Amino acid sequence: MGVGEASATQLAKDIPEIAERVSCDAVCRVIQHAEEFYVLDAALEFDLFERLKQPTSAHELAKIIGTDPKLTEKMCGVLVAMGLLRKRGHLYENSGLANAYLVEASPYCQKNLLRLERSMIKDRWTRFLEALRHGFVKVERNGYSAREFTLAMAESALRGELQRTVEALQQLEDMKRARKLLDLGGGHGLYAIVLAKVFPDLHAYVLDLPHVLEQVTREMVCRYEMGDRVHLIPADFTKEEIGSGYDVVFASHSLYGKSDQLLAILKKIHASLNNGGIFVSNHWYLDESRESPLRALLWELHLASFYFKGFDLFTLREFLWCLNKAGFVVEDMRDISHIDSPSKLVIARRL
Ligand SMILES: C[S@@+](CC[C@H](N)C(=O)[O-])C[C@H]1O[C@@H](n2cnc3c(N)ncnc32)[C@H](O)[C@@H]1O
Repeated sequence: MGVGEASATQLAKDIPEIAERVSCDAVCRVIQHAEEFYVLDAALEFDLFERLKQPTSAHELAKIIGTDPKLTEKMCGVLVAMGLLRKRGHLYENSGLANAYLVEASPYCQKNLLRLERSMIKDRWTRFLEALRHGFVKVERNGYSAREFTLAMAESALRGELQRTVEALQQLEDMKRARKLLDLGGGHGLYAIVLAKVFPDLHAYVLDLPHVLEQVTREMVCRYEMGDRVHLIPADFTKEEIGSGYDVVFASHSLYGKSDQLLAILKKIHASLNNGGIFVSNHWYLDESRESPLRALLWELHLASFYFKGFDLFTLREFLWCLNKAGFVVEDMRDISHIDSPSKLVIARRL
């Protein structure tokens, strides 16, 4: 019953019952998160977390960044409640969370990823109604470069997925024996770099598009001083050779697309492996019902609305079917999902 149709007496009686039976918390949370997003967005716009590495009053902060002192103080209050700032007396400073993820000096800084996510919300999701009406709206990348995108993928991996993947792979006997690994669509190269570090006899090859390797990967390999065992292969894996003689092929978030394309690349991977070699895939899937997980559903809707008209995310069963069709035997699956990334590792063998 709508409010307009109820008498005041009914409202007084009904509300507690409704609140008990159907909580409105989920709706409230969505609205609040949207508001929190805009506060964080403004804080990032003014490099607030760089400035609040030292305790500073809201008044002083407003003077430095050229904002209204009263609103700046209220914003700092909200950021404290969000867990991003701490308040000592009348001074504000970064919380541990902000120092870990929001300042440039931290190795886990999420600066590029946040720029990408802010652009996804402000440039794309704000046009969702338009996409919904017309079936699709092509929104070109703006606000961040190809280099920043690849760095954003590195930052995303460093949120914990890289660590969980390496931990899972360390348990595999195949990895201990492996001498040659391909990181297909390896982008930033951190998976290859860390795996080569963890397995001292391993040579890892990062295959990606030439501009990605030149703009980011080469720099990463130099930064971590792994040039003797991490090698680069500039290529488009849909059109060019991917090499051969691999003991392991690893592909993380690089094989989304149409099933005929997936099958073609899986066959290429199969042919590039030694007999008995393994393919390790790390991707997101929809559940068989195609109704969860929400994180993957949102991403699928985003891609289908603004990037690839008609895009569908695979279910795990669809992916496994393609693997079998390409000649693989699936041996193991590991759930390495996290609140922000519902990823599953699939380990398949070429017999
Ligand atoms: C989402 S990123 C994932 C990067 C990294 N593997 C990770 O998990 O963090 C996808 C990567 O696949 C690469 N890629 C996509 N299609 C490709 C193709 N046809 N040939 C080579 N690389 C490709 C992209 O350039 C990008 O670096």
